[in-house]
This record gives sequence, structure tokens and C-alpha cells, in this order.
Amino acid sequence: MEDKIARLKEIASNRPEMGAVVDGALSSVESCSSLEEVKDARVKLLGKKGSVTALFKSIGQAPPEEKPLIGEAGNLLRTVVEEKLDAKERELRSRETSERMRREALDVTLPGRRPPLGRRHVLSQVTSEITNIFISMGYQVVEGPEAELDYYNFEALNTPPMHPARSLNDTFYIRRADAERDSRDDVLLRTHTSPVQVRQMESRKPPLYVVSPGKAYRRDEIDMTHSAMFSQVEGFAVDKGINMGHLKGTLEVFAKRLFGEDRDVRFRPHFFPFTEPSAEVDVSCFVCQGSGCSLCKGVGWLEILGCGMIDPNVFDYVGIDKEEYTGFAFGMGIERVAMMKYGIDDMRVLYENDVRFLKQF
Ligand code: DAH
Repeated sequence: MEDKIARLKEIASNRPEMGAVVDGALSSVESCSSLEEVKDARVKLLGKKGSVTALFKSIGQAPPEEKPLIGEAGNLLRTVVEEKLDAKERELRSRETSERMRREALDVTLPGRRPPLGRRHVLSQVTSEITNIFISMGYQVVEGPEAELDYYNFEALNTPPMHPARSLNDTFYIRRADAERDSRDDVLLRTHTSPVQVRQMESRKPPLYVVSPGKAYRRDEIDMTHSAMFSQVEGFAVDKGINMGHLKGTLEVFAKRLFGEDRDVRFRPHFFPFTEPSAEVDVSCFVCQGSGCSLCKGVGWLEILGCGMIDPNVFDYVGIDKEEYTGFAFGMGIERVAMMKYGIDDMRVLYENDVRFLKQF
């Protein structure tokens, strides 16, 4: 390349017109600063009307002794210009590429942005925790209908027709009995999950070890500790030789697994129509460890569930031989358990679905 330029300069040295064409051609290649300009220069220099082409055309009018030299110079100039334009084009292209690389640079070592993930609602989490403890003890999980017959919600649970829990103030009725219909056929929103016991005992044979989570409904004013819709977990065991010791052992293990081994558990006599004897289970207060505080209202204990030995009358309703089988049952409010576990003092936050609240669990 350099020797070609040297030879070209030599030929042009005493030919000013040719010198101007050569210098002009070389400097217009040099001054190109974009691919667009390279393209234009190619046309302006090497095209049909280009200056290099014009140099060849000048051969026609030149004196004979000049012709070979003009031809040689034209060939040299065309080669040099072509090579220089190609080099220029490569240089500009690679500059453009590296600039684009810089612009579009991506640091693959940067930590990724974590997409916001959903999670299970705290009530669903607590429900699983509760049912998992019973699953580990060999219980089965089943569900039952929320719209229930009076028969399953009350009657077969040994709840006499005049029992206060049946009053209009407590129960949402969907279809009331009329003159032709028996009140046992009333359709209502179940007021507890206990009817699942009846449905299971009626349709299956003991031994039965069952837990059943689900929603229940009561006509309660909504406040910090009440909701018209809430959740319960029901559980029961029916087998030969089941006694109160099994009930106590099972619920003690459950309460300590759920709330911590260091909790004390106590059974307090109570009344439920479908169990006899009946009890409520308390755990020692988390906040004051039993000495009395505002959470436990000074008692030192927090009630977590109701339970008892299944009343033989219930066995009569479902056709299980009360001479052969005994059983225990229990039921607890999931909201209450969740509130105690996490120190939540207003039940309503469990239903408002404020993500700022929910994402804490
Ligand atoms: N059904 C009762 C309620 O809603 C809770 C309950 C108490 C369930 C004792 C039971 C039981 O199975 O044996 O308050």
C-alpha cells in the first residue's frame, strides 16, 4: 500500500492537475467519519462520474507518451482508494459495534430483581399447621358442606329444639320449614363444623380418626373478636376402648406442638350438647406465662378449644353401637388460634386482605 502511494506521488509530482486529483481523493477518503460518508465517497471517487474515473477518461486527450503513466496512475489510485475506503468502512463498523455494545451492556453478575411473590393467607397457613399435627397422628382430613341441614347441624348433635344456639339470632337460615316440612329439613349455614362428625359417622364404619377444617357462620355483630363468617377445625376419634385419657393425651400433644413445649395445658369442665363429659382446653398465657395480664384478662390461661367424649345419643343418631364403640371430639376456632399465635388483637385484619399485613406471615 505504502509503495503504491509512493509511486503514485512520484508520477503526480510534476503533473499538478493529476496531483490535485490524487490529493483530493486521498483526503476525501481520510475525512470520512461515518458509513454514510464512506458510501458517498465511493460514488464520488469511483463511480461513473467520479474523479478517479475522470482521470482514466483524460487518457483520450493526452499526448501518446503520457498515456501509459496516466493509466498506471489511474490503476494505482483506484486500488489505493478502494483499499482505503474498505479499511475505513471496517474501522467505522467496528467502532459502531463497540459503541452499541457499551450502550447495551448488561452486567450479568448483578443480583436479579425478585418478583413479588404471593403467599398463602395466614389463616390457611395456621389451618395447615393444625391439620398437619393431626395427620402426623394418623388422622384423615375431610370436608363437609357449608350449607347444611338442621338435622346435621343440630338435631343429630343432640341439640334439642329449644336449645338457645338454634335461635334466629345465632343462625343464618336459608330455607325454613313450613307446615308440610319437618324442621329437621331446614337449610342453614352451618354454625360450627361439628355436622361433619355426623356425616362421617353416618356414612363410614369405625375406627374413624378424622379432622375437618372449614368455614362456619353465625349472626354475630362484627367486632374485634367476632365475625359472621369464621373458620373452625373439627376433629373426632371413634374406636373400641377410647377413653378420656386418649382425649387428654391427644389434645395435650396437639397444644404443645402448636404453641410450644413450654406451654401448660389444662382441661376445664364445660357443657356441649354432643359430648358428655365436656371440657374446654386452656393453654398458659404466652404473654405473662400464667401470672395474669391484659391478653388473658388476668386469668393466666387462654381458651383454645372445646372437646368431650361423644355423647351416646349421637351414636344412636348415626347408627354406631354405643356398647361397642366410644369416641372423643373437639372443635376450635382457627382465627382465635392465629390471633393467639401471632399476637393479633383485632380479628378484622384477617379478612381485610391488606397486603402489608398479610406479607408478614
Ligand atoms: N362445635 C363447638 C363450637 O362451635 C366446638 C366443639 C366443642 C366441637 C366440643 C366439638 C366438641 O367437637 O366436642 O363451639
